[in-house]
Amino acid sequence: MTNDTAQVHGANRLLTTPFTIGSLTIPNRTVMTPVGTNLADPDGTPGKRLTAYWMERARGGCGLLVSEIIRVNEVHGAGLPRQLALTRDEHVAPLREAIEQIHSTGTKFLAQLHHPGSEGIPPLCADGVTVSPSGVVVRTTKAPTRELTTDEVEGLVGDFIQAARRAKEAGADGVEIHGAHGYLVCQFLSPYTNRRTDRYGGDFDGRMRFVTEIIEGIRKVCGPDFPISVRISASEMMETIGEPGVGITVEEGARIARRLEEVGVDLISVSTGTYETGTTIIEPINTPRNWRDPIIRAVRDAVSIPVMGTSITRMPSQAEQMLQDGLVDLVAMGRSWLADPQWGVKAIEGRDDQIVRCMGCMACFQALGSGPIICALNPRCGHESEFPPLPARDLEGRSALVVGGGPSGCEAAEQLALRGADVVLTEATDRIGGQVRPGCNPPGKEPMSWVIDNYEQRLRRAGVEVRLGTVMTADAVRGFGADVVVVATGAVPFRPALPGMNLPQVVEAIDVLRGDAEVGRRVVVVGSGMTGLETAELLHQRGHEVIGVYEMADTIAPGAFRQNVESVASHLRAAKIPLQTGHKLLEVTPDQAIFGTAQERVEVPCDTVVTAIGMRPNAALGQELATEGVEAVPVGDATGVARVAEAVASGFRAGRTAAVHA
Ligand SMILES: Cc1cc2nc3c(=O)[nH]c(=O)nc-3n(C[C@H](O)[C@H](O)[C@H](O)COP(=O)(O)O)c2cc1C
Ligand code: SF4
Repeated sequence: MTNDTAQVHGANRLLTTPFTIGSLTIPNRTVMTPVGTNLADPDGTPGKRLTAYWMERARGGCGLLVSEIIRVNEVHGAGLPRQLALTRDEHVAPLREAIEQIHSTGTKFLAQLHHPGSEGIPPLCADGVTVSPSGVVVRTTKAPTRELTTDEVEGLVGDFIQAARRAKEAGADGVEIHGAHGYLVCQFLSPYTNRRTDRYGGDFDGRMRFVTEIIEGIRKVCGPDFPISVRISASEMMETIGEPGVGITVEEGARIARRLEEVGVDLISVSTGTYETGTTIIEPINTPRNWRDPIIRAVRDAVSIPVMGTSITRMPSQAEQMLQDGLVDLVAMGRSWLADPQWGVKAIEGRDDQIVRCMGCMACFQALGSGPIICALNPRCGHESEFPPLPARDLEGRSALVVGGGPSGCEAAEQLALRGADVVLTEATDRIGGQVRPGCNPPGKEPMSWVIDNYEQRLRRAGVEVRLGTVMTADAVRGFGADVVVVATGAVPFRPALPGMNLPQVVEAIDVLRGDAEVGRRVVVVGSGMTGLETAELLHQRGHEVIGVYEMADTIAPGAFRQNVESVASHLRAAKIPLQTGHKLLEVTPDQAIFGTAQERVEVPCDTVVTAIGMRPNAALGQELATEGVEAVPVGDATGVARVAEAVASGFRAGRTAAVHA
């Protein structure tokens, strides 16, 4: 197939055609794969918040919505603190209510049945210990785990079957068994984690027995027509941590899929990885789109039942190509639906350019560590019941001025315009985007540019007047006389007062990324946050000799999300660029950067010192306005430096709630 085929628009796309699996007809080919949300009510029922989140995606044209992980066992089966459960018959009626609402839109629903095994959360296990086929500890979490007895394994088979029965009683269109990502079912399938000597281990047949008994049991209880999907890690990707051939390889994954077809499964959902190879489950920003296609293809070629698989699919043309190529029958995407719940409707109507594309920042995944789901680009994600899609038009005839065109300013401006205000957004540089602009330039960070493209057209559609190259003073703001003023002046680099910091060979990382700094051959990068790491990678790629990245703290990128850090740090290690911790910058001389460690003074010869020590709020305008008594709402980095996620959220809230001053 050619690319032209995939450029078919709107309703003519294969993507928009129905697809039938046994008794189930899905209205189009789009699937939202399971995404844990931490939004369920504490009793394991969907409640208002999770239902509103689902409904948003159902109304947005999602053909098949697969629930997040559902708990099947209350003793050691928790995967999230606020998780759906089908462990008791009382769970059926509330889930039925939510599914009825989903069905009213035409969207179909699968319940994903899950047990975390050794990837569980010890404090959520009854005796503080996770369970697993053979007591193999997950090396990333190091959570204590114990081997299940044969009786317990049989009990767990029953738990999955009973949960499937309840799902069917609740009106689910089928179930998906979570056999991927190193969770319990996957642990039984994998020769790395299954070292049992009873009938649930040993050879391939033994490793397949746990999932086979679950499938056969569900068939018996739910009937021959009840669709069963199994999500598999078609490769555990152990080669990415230096252990090729260990665990489930692609060949083993294809063999598992073939056996699943033989035992009567209706659909295979292809994923990869375990917690130990986590960036191959949920991929960071610098992972190439369609990277998983060859693995999906291996499964596809092994079976004749329908197949779907995530592969960082972000645009309808990309999805269409996968369908046209016969790679998949359904287009599986998780995060695309977080960033844009309207993905399906926009694809069907051919409004591809309006899709807010997930950029892969991982803020959604990181959020689950401490609370409910968020999306950096969709501030309503997880708050659907709190904020309607569109605000009331309560600012008709009013004017608003937004100073600063970073993500927080753009978001605030759009919301104010949607409320009916005449909005002017001023931006000091020649394009909107703020810190996102230099952020696009390191290797693999191109998806950040989608954010700017998207805001440009959203502001146009909302009727916001954007004035580029416009610096606003407090006088100018006062003179403007807007009814609402939002200050989104962003952040400026922080430079410590150390000897030599004013030398010309000291440059800011942000200026390097912007292309505004002259950089010599031998470079030292000071500060190992994401900006420091990414700048080091960019300079290495451009042929500079990066002598090292030096960090004062005793870990690289303290505070940053580990998966993001690893996605760049692994490249630096491969390029043999030292990542030095415990090195505090003391001084810069014309040909050296001088650091202090706990033991010694370290002199590092270099031509350029790139500082990535952090940013501080650019609060000057806000403070001046406050002094002069001009009411203004500060948003984004101007209030406290953070990620795109926080900037967008603060711009959204300000734009939605800002009141007209007297
Ligand atoms: C926050 C978050 C939670 C997830 N929870 C689940 C889950 O409950 N079950 C599951 O099978 N996959 C889960 N996934 C994986 C996604 O379904 C999907 O496979 C992955 O995000 C890669 O696809 P994408 O780039 O289209 O999102 C989760 C992903 C994210 C980002
Ligand atoms: S938070 Fe980031 S990774 Fe997650 S869906 Fe939104 S844009 Fe994508």
